[in-house]
Amino acid sequence: MEYPKKYETHLTMKDGKELFLRPVLPEDAGLVKDFYDSLSERTKYLRFFIPKKEARTDRVQKFATVDYEKSMVIVALYQDAIVGAARYDWDDNEKCLELAETVRDNWQGKGLGTDLFRYIVKIAKENKYTEMTALILDENKNAFNILKKTIPGDLKISYEGNLIRVTFAL
Ligand SMILES: CC(C)(COP(=O)(O)OP(=O)(O)OC[C@H]1O[C@@H](n2cnc3c(N)ncnc32)[C@H](O)[C@@H]1OP(=O)(O)O)[C@@H](O)C(=O)NCCC(=O)NCCS
Repeated sequence: MEYPKKYETHLTMKDGKELFLRPVLPEDAGLVKDFYDSLSERTKYLRFFIPKKEARTDRVQKFATVDYEKSMVIVALYQDAIVGAARYDWDDNEKCLELAETVRDNWQGKGLGTDLFRYIVKIAKENKYTEMTALILDENKNAFNILKKTIPGDLKISYEGNLIRVTFAL
């Protein structure tokens, strides 16, 4: 699918900072690498569940190249740097739409994770998806809080070792 320009939007944070939210573009690979390499070990661990090293160029290129249908990535930009990213991917094996998001460490706790989550849920709905799944570490209270306070319906929860799979209707 073509780049969906209609998903470009502006977001004003509580402190007045203006962010630009838009679908990712292949030419964002460098920005994606900077974003990823800026993340603390803790943030990377909460996102990927294993210790991670520096971003590999082929990986970031892959992250930045999506079809905007089965995969969508929304990046939040501030002064030409990525400060947060939310993505969903259709998992054909599990037959579910999997969500993941990350906010730059010094931007956490300011509401951006919640806003990005609301925005990508809206996009998923517009694209006719009816259910979403998030896989989070059981210690990840912040991520769980976002789901709990934002999703009006029930959260279906199942445990997979130290991971919680949270599934909800859109
Ligand atoms: C989870 C994550 C995306 C949330 O982003 P965020 O911008 O911090 O989210 P918000 O500011 O909207 O806050 C979400 C909740 O966490 C709390 N919180 C987050 N960071 C906080 C901090 N540094 N201090 C205090 N509270 C914090 C908020 O108070 C809020 O809880 P509330 O709704 O009960 O008030 C972000 O913490 C992150 O990138 N974590 C690492 C990656 C990850 O865990 N991804 C999710 C699994 S894929």
